[in-house]
Amino acid sequence: MTANKDSARMTRRQFLRTAAVLGGAAAAGPLLAACGAPGLGGASGPLKIGLLLPSSGIYAALGESITNGMKMYLDSVNNKAGGRDIQLIAEDEGTDPQPAAQKARKLVEQDQVDLVAGIVSSGVAGAIRDYFNDNKKFLILANAGADALTRKAKSQYIFRASFSNWQPNWPMGKWVAENIGKKAFISVPDYAAGAETVSAFRNSFEAAGGQVLKVQKTPFPNMGDPAPFLTDIKATAPELVYAFYSGAAATTFVKAYADFGLSKSIPLTGSGFMVEQDVLPALGDTALGVKSCLHWALSLDNAENKAFSDAYQKRTSKVANVFAVQGYDTARLIVEGLNAVQGDSGKADAFADALGKVSFASPRGAFKMDPNTHNTINHIYVREVKKNGDTLGNVVVADLGEVPDPGDDSKDTKA
Ligand code: BEZ
Repeated sequence: MTANKDSARMTRRQFLRTAAVLGGAAAAGPLLAACGAPGLGGASGPLKIGLLLPSSGIYAALGESITNGMKMYLDSVNNKAGGRDIQLIAEDEGTDPQPAAQKARKLVEQDQVDLVAGIVSSGVAGAIRDYFNDNKKFLILANAGADALTRKAKSQYIFRASFSNWQPNWPMGKWVAENIGKKAFISVPDYAAGAETVSAFRNSFEAAGGQVLKVQKTPFPNMGDPAPFLTDIKATAPELVYAFYSGAAATTFVKAYADFGLSKSIPLTGSGFMVEQDVLPALGDTALGVKSCLHWALSLDNAENKAFSDAYQKRTSKVANVFAVQGYDTARLIVEGLNAVQGDSGKADAFADALGKVSFASPRGAFKMDPNTHNTINHIYVREVKKNGDTLGNVVVADLGEVPDPGDDSKDTKA
């Protein structure tokens, strides 16, 4: 929509007043539509992208890496897409879904962003899905793996440039059963991403002859004292542990695992967030030998990864990590989609169609959006934490091939 600024401001004020009376994110849908959204920003002037990423809580470092990656790509295209300048407006996602949902509404209704990108937590992604779908606003996920968002809760307005929780964990279940052991203890945080990790891993692990001895759900976001959880693992005496933790929770869990002497006797495996490059400096040697799966590794040998990792280190003085790669790819997905519609994200059908067709050479290898699921098709690698001189890194030890999300729950039936 190309309404002049004053009339757009009036309608926005009216909208905010009415929406406040009605309350509830979903109730805002028809009102936003009446205001002319999704084209509130129109196709002229700066294109506003709302960045909803954690700057507080256990996932704050993930938010920082994604932001750095996005800015790095946007700088490389002079902060322009479809002929328009790009303006970023950031809000803190935290980890609590309800305050995060309010921030999403603030970005859309008050800041009048053209689209929102980011979201680390599956819990937050689930809480804001209806708002974006019902209000026909684009949401580009840069991390949150909540399976349903690209399955039964798929939306024309939601795309994911990262992974679904199923993608790393399902192929890893079979690999762990065949290469590490058959009796597993699973430890995950007690929220959506933890539950989906259990379900995906368990499904292929059991099909390959594995047995899950126990599933442990730790408090989310803050685990508190990890001692009782490690004691439980020791008492169960599994052949291996499979876990999903990220950010500050990964540091707490992996360090405690080593402190309790478990890393010497029970192999630790999991999705790769637990030992990603962002936490390796804090983990030090406690992470050595952990085998994990992910769609990227610092050691991946391709020209884009080398250029990206070098430039990221130069820019931030930090080693690149998977979250930075996802931020970089998210920004590129958005820019390529906007270029295809001359910067007018209000042309919803054309913009969605363009986003579904995006593919490019990424640091993770080929980046391919799946037009059916709106989820990236990822290549999954098993990595092992090894030391090269004084430097710890994830070295690829197995290639599990290309893994598209199935787009439904058919391959993932055990809770
Ligand atoms: C999630 O909530 O989906 C998630 C959070 C951190 C790392 C990976 C996934």
